[in-house]
Amino acid sequence: MLDQPDKAPPDPFGPATLGPLRLRNRVIKAATFEGMSAGGVVSPSLIDFHRRMAAGGVAMTTVSYVAVSRDGRGAPNELYIHDGAAEGLAEIARAVHAEGAAISAQLGHAGAVGTIRKRYLGPSATRTITGTRVHAISAAEIDAVVEDFATGAGMLAAAGFDAVELHFGHHYLVSAFLSPRWNRRKDSYGGPVQNRARLALRILAAVRDRVGSAMAVTAKLNMTDGIRGGLDVADSIEVARLLAADGRLDALELSAGGSQANQMFMFRGDPPRKEMAAALPGIQGAVFRLAGPVLFRRYPFREAYLLPMARQFRAAVPLPLVLLGGINTVDTIRQAMAEGFDFVAMGRALLRDPALVGKMADGSATRGNCIHCNKCVPSIYSGTRCVLDHPEPLYVGNPGPMP
Ligand SMILES: Cc1cc2nc3c(=O)[nH]c(=O)nc-3n(C[C@H](O)[C@H](O)[C@H](O)COP(=O)(O)O)c2cc1C
Ligand code: SF4
Repeated sequence: MLDQPDKAPPDPFGPATLGPLRLRNRVIKAATFEGMSAGGVVSPSLIDFHRRMAAGGVAMTTVSYVAVSRDGRGAPNELYIHDGAAEGLAEIARAVHAEGAAISAQLGHAGAVGTIRKRYLGPSATRTITGTRVHAISAAEIDAVVEDFATGAGMLAAAGFDAVELHFGHHYLVSAFLSPRWNRRKDSYGGPVQNRARLALRILAAVRDRVGSAMAVTAKLNMTDGIRGGLDVADSIEVARLLAADGRLDALELSAGGSQANQMFMFRGDPPRKEMAAALPGIQGAVFRLAGPVLFRRYPFREAYLLPMARQFRAAVPLPLVLLGGINTVDTIRQAMAEGFDFVAMGRALLRDPALVGKMADGSATRGNCIHCNKCVPSIYSGTRCVLDHPEPLYVGNPGPMP
């Protein structure tokens, strides 16, 4: 947090407070869409995935991605909020708690992001990069999305989840509202950043009102969209300050880039173009084969590549912050604490080795073995995993585009 210059940085492997939660350490498993939910429900594979993360020592694992509705999904085999999902959510929460970790779920609406058949929605009418028509969401549909977030968070709370992470990043629906590139609205949701942030603030209010104070509410926000005309750092800091001033958020996780355009900005490292083209079904694979170099650009990987940008948020935003992006070593985690970040989130390092945090905590490892080849990214279509260690498909649900 701000204004603590004389305090010694906290031990990242000691207990920590996140809103109402007492966590066993400061390392959170970042959302990595698992693609293990045929029919939109929790599967045994999904439970096993998060049980292993919990047993490996993380403070909290994040079930991802949970769509607030069927049209809020983006990919095949995605969990979505409906009555039939409730029992499985309770089961996965019990399994994670039994391993001593807390459990969060990333809740979102994919908007114009996706590879499935659905009604693609954005703040304004447009086309996706592959030509799919995106409909401008109406005022009534906005109200429904806000209500869907509240219902989803309520279902997670009832299932025993400790936290909910609101997905305000990665070009998903709320992110698209924040972005001047996609938000051309003339009503109270468009124009100045305060208006573009209105949907995020409404969702936060509705979710907090629904779940009360027993559950932690966090959000994942783009510091920049990583595209020309998109949300930039100055406007994103303003959004973060609005979220902080609102007083309902327990922590903010800082990301960048997104799934509608320039996805590799989020990941850095090798672009897995060949593997993505092979993983996508039919025409989508063909389009990707042609457009791969545009869709998956190359950005060199650097340890903690988002830290330079995140420092600007640390200096300006009075909220607990979660540093994310290329965190692979104990030294980086300690540096994050020393620079005032309250938590770190790790994705690929934990896909490579779910037991890494436990090993770091007991001193038997100082760094992870992820090589940032990003070949786990297309594995979302066959059960998300590190394909270097597990080349064979892990989960076969609905392989193609969902109806
Ligand atoms: C296979 C895979 C799936 C991902 N799915 C999601 C997702 O569903 N939601 C999200 O916000 N981020 C997702 N991410 C991004 C990660 O949360 C994280 O922002 C990114 O991997 C950078 O962190 P890292 O360097 O620790 O992996 C995904 C990453 C990977 C590798
Ligand atoms: S496939 Fe494995 S090594 Fe490659 S980026 Fe993913 S987790 Fe890291």
